[in-house]
Amino acid sequence: MYATLRAICADITTLPVDVIVNAANKTLLGGGGVDGAIHRAAGPELLACCRTLNGCETGEAKITPGFRLPARHVIHTVGPVWRDGKHGEPALLAACYHHALELAAQAGLETIAFPCISTGVYGYPPDLAAPCALSAVQEALARLPGIREVIFCCFSEEEQRRYEGLLAARSGKSDLPSVDSGRAD
Ligand code: APR
Repeated sequence: MYATLRAICADITTLPVDVIVNAANKTLLGGGGVDGAIHRAAGPELLACCRTLNGCETGEAKITPGFRLPARHVIHTVGPVWRDGKHGEPALLAACYHHALELAAQAGLETIAFPCISTGVYGYPPDLAAPCALSAVQEALARLPGIREVIFCCFSEEEQRRYEGLLAARSGKSDLPSVDSGRAD
């Protein structure tokens, strides 16, 4: 089975997918940015559930129900704070995508949407984060056949175009913004 990868520009809290990924902080107790938006849309039950998770390390991921969100689940992951790219940031960012996809596959989920993890408050340069994220997703999909669709849910058209350019370049097709993972199952 092939997984479809595509980039959109949308508010991730509106997506009716199996799971959306939250760019959280280590406390998992909410914050600003996409974290704040997800908690506002999911309602107070999400925070109550997160309180039982005992936080999350950078690069790790934990799953909860989606409560009032259209998405059935939320996978909370903690991206690296950007320093200079020489403190393990790329590997930690890739780990967020790997672990989120592994959790989704373990839960039997098939459609997943990611925000642009770490590129807001955590200051990761978007032009460096996008290729790192895409490579990490494609590496994970090669060993996770249950995942059917990965959406890069950007919050600006500029970011969406960045991902579409990368997807097109890697699929060798200039006209299709989405790409199959190229994995034969
Ligand atoms: N839907 C999709 N993407 C969004 C949304 C939304 N509703 N709101 C913000 N974004 C985008 C931002 O524009 C950015 O591209 O999500 C990306 C990640 O930005 P942040 O939310 O700031 O996350 P991050 O950079 O990983 O920093 C995490 O910020 O909100 C706090 O509690 C969070 O401490 C943690 C830190």
